[in-house]
Amino acid sequence: MKPFVLRLSLIIFIPLTLSILFLILMPKETAMSKTYEVFGVTIHKNPSKSKLTQLGVSTWPKWEGGPLKIPWSFKEEETMYLLEGKVKVSVEVKGAVGSFEIGGGDLVVFPKGMNITWEVTEPVKKHYSLKKE
Ligand SMILES: *[C@@H]1O[C@H](CO)[C@@H](O)[C@H](O)[C@H]1NC(C)=O
Repeated sequence: MKPFVLRLSLIIFIPLTLSILFLILMPKETAMSKTYEVFGVTIHKNPSKSKLTQLGVSTWPKWEGGPLKIPWSFKEEETMYLLEGKVKVSVEVKGAVGSFEIGGGDLVVFPKGMNITWEVTEPVKKHYSLKKE
């Protein structure tokens, strides 16, 4: 092989190989994990296993519920981890109603004193933890 061709192939193949290796070795849950806030509610999508272990999520009490729609008032800050299901959460802010959806794989923190409508659209299994003061 001519030196030029050799150099060119190195320029192409080394970064390509490194990129592929990075994609293979990168933990999948880190890649998909993200956190955002809506109406003061914090939603962590696909938190890492180590985060869940650190919080002790599997030792928290469990709640299960089929389709229902109820008004709910959070007397304490509540952190929940949804194992499965889907919930539409509606919030009234200054007379206007906004809503968002949470579901299986979400770690969600509702602030103390918040009023919502909790509408289970797909049967839910969750772990939850109340922050007592
Ligand atoms: C939530 O509802 C309770 C009881 O109806 C009320 O006392 C409280 O002011 C409400 N909180 C907010 C933030 O709207």
